[in-house]
Amino acid sequence: MPLSKRSTLTQFLIEERRRFPGASGDFNALILDVALACKAIARAVAFGELGGMLGNHGESGASINVQGETQKKLDVISNDMFISANNWGGHLAGMGSEEMDDPYQIPGQYPRGKYLLVFDPLDGSSNIDVNVSVGSIFSILRAPQDVIDSGRDIKAEDFFQPGAQQLAAGYALYGPTTMLVLTVGNGVNAFTLDPNLGEFKLTHPNIQIPADTQEFAINASNSRFWEAPVKRYVDECLAGKTGARGKDFNMRWIASMVAEAHRILMRGGVFLYPRDTKDPSKPGRLRLLYEANPVGMIMEQAGGRASTGREPMMGVMPTSLHQRIGLVFGSRNEVERIERYHREPVAQKDDANPLFAERSLFRD
Ligand code: F6P
Repeated sequence: MPLSKRSTLTQFLIEERRRFPGASGDFNALILDVALACKAIARAVAFGELGGMLGNHGESGASINVQGETQKKLDVISNDMFISANNWGGHLAGMGSEEMDDPYQIPGQYPRGKYLLVFDPLDGSSNIDVNVSVGSIFSILRAPQDVIDSGRDIKAEDFFQPGAQQLAAGYALYGPTTMLVLTVGNGVNAFTLDPNLGEFKLTHPNIQIPADTQEFAINASNSRFWEAPVKRYVDECLAGKTGARGKDFNMRWIASMVAEAHRILMRGGVFLYPRDTKDPSKPGRLRLLYEANPVGMIMEQAGGRASTGREPMMGVMPTSLHQRIGLVFGSRNEVERIERYHREPVAQKDDANPLFAERSLFRD
């Protein structure tokens, strides 16, 4: 393929920027720094055990992150890569990460900029040791004006902006190929890393998610903790042609949200990690600021939808940096159906659900 046939990420960003004659170039430079971190993580992931990259972090006994989850070596390495690629450029007022309890302050020797970067450096990291796709997710916000004016240290509250205010969002998927999927608020474009050039090339312009689907993704081991509208939805999918939906459904669960989001972008589908009753202290499993919001923006920009089940994800006002939330995203008509089920009064009894019925798969 001759060089000129596909845009590189740099060319794509420069051409996008021409739509904004006043733009300084800071934003593009920031995205390219994030892309550099993703390329570095892709290499680390690819070396796996050969690079001593697998296993838990911590010499003696595993260390636990702010989420109460075991940190893998690659979680910590990926976090360091995000920081070192992004802390020096003068574009950021600060960063937030799944792997850091508190906001990251830009070191004194570097200038501070007008953006905030919040990320999960390696999502699905429980899959690393079994060589299944993992990814990085990021969201870019504008820093509050007083942060920009004063250059003061950032606080968690500075990130408390609804998803609708994200300036850009994206993820890198470390699968059979490394891909960067990006929205800067003007559709969704996906780039594949050309291993010969070390450059992301535009391979999937203007992605659109089909509005309908026959594929759903949910961790069914949590079924006894689901709320009634989710039980009803899954029950109807499982009932297939013979049930209310009148069509058969397929099910997938990779346990790597980036990989699930990518599958849905490529061929449609719906993903649910809903609020449930498993642990009353956790209103959902996934994190609002660096999982639900960036994936939500990507879905909506591709014509799909993202929701808590009860309300549009993009409207939720965050109240903490590491806030968890119920998340449903994917093909628009399915997500809207799930939202409708949450609004409708519940007329179902558990034993009407094949998941719990006498001869069901999930009954012990
Ligand atoms: O956020 C972490 C994550 O690994 C997601 O990528 C994934 O969708 C989910 O957790 C998997 O959860 P479970 O272990 O319940 O299947």
